[in-house]
Amino acid sequence: MTLCHRGTRACLVRCLGDVFGNACHAASQSVNTQTMNLDIRSHERRFANYAAQERAKEREDPAPLDLKFTHTHNVLANARHIVASENFTQARACLLAALYHDVARFEQYLRYRTFRDRVSCDHGLLGIKILKRERPLNEEHPLVRRLVLAAVGLHNRFRLPPSLPEDLALVTRVVRDADKLDILRVMDEHLSQPGPYSPTVVMSLPDDDTIVSEPILQAALEGRVAAYEDLRSVNDFRVLLGTWFTDMNFTGSRQKFVTDGHARRILQALPANAPYAPVKDKLLKQLDEFTAIFCPEAH
Ligand SMILES: [Fe+2]
Repeated sequence: MTLCHRGTRACLVRCLGDVFGNACHAASQSVNTQTMNLDIRSHERRFANYAAQERAKEREDPAPLDLKFTHTHNVLANARHIVASENFTQARACLLAALYHDVARFEQYLRYRTFRDRVSCDHGLLGIKILKRERPLNEEHPLVRRLVLAAVGLHNRFRLPPSLPEDLALVTRVVRDADKLDILRVMDEHLSQPGPYSPTVVMSLPDDDTIVSEPILQAALEGRVAAYEDLRSVNDFRVLLGTWFTDMNFTGSRQKFVTDGHARRILQALPANAPYAPVKDKLLKQLDEFTAIFCPEAH
């Protein structure tokens, strides 16, 4: 597979299509023990070196890059937790995809001074380009390499394309769950502090109890994942984060969702009166019911 050096979005989308094709083909190959080896320490060192090299280029404030470095390690830890509770044949690809999922955040920030894809670039697709350029996956089994590249490219999609190869869908779902679990941590840590909240963290939404998004409340009441574009206030954001529980793909992810306590704290801060009360009750009850069955020791 060759990568267009201009790195345009269309070019990267073509590469992603190529990766899908290869993943489909590779999925039918016999799995060898290399794909299940969970020792990725050499990759962790390599990633740390790459992050340090990029950080050194930042002349003003490296704090946003440091946050992404911490986030990466938390996402990897979450992925380890998920993998440990399942019996995946592609466990190594899951861990590597978690480690490299946000590799593009450094270059994205240095180039555009923002992590917002809409006003800069698709950091999933840029991640593929960087991994092709830096070649940390060259020693990996071809199946692992292709799965990791494709999962990195897909991890930030609102919805996954239908009919993905089974292995690729699984690896991508592990990364997405692990990613969301750490975003909950970041949001909880921030929203637990007294306001005013950082506009970057709350996406410049007003912290005003009188501003409510009906589509967000409706999605929560119907058991659907709420969409970012419907957000109107910080309380809506709390509800959206609570709806992620229904989007968790593995029992290990759901267990972490409830036992970490982040989602519960975020939801408990919602107003106790209408129109948030029924949504708050429903989402908290959902967590309680899961906890009672799957994590009774946490009850
Ligand atoms: Fe990401």
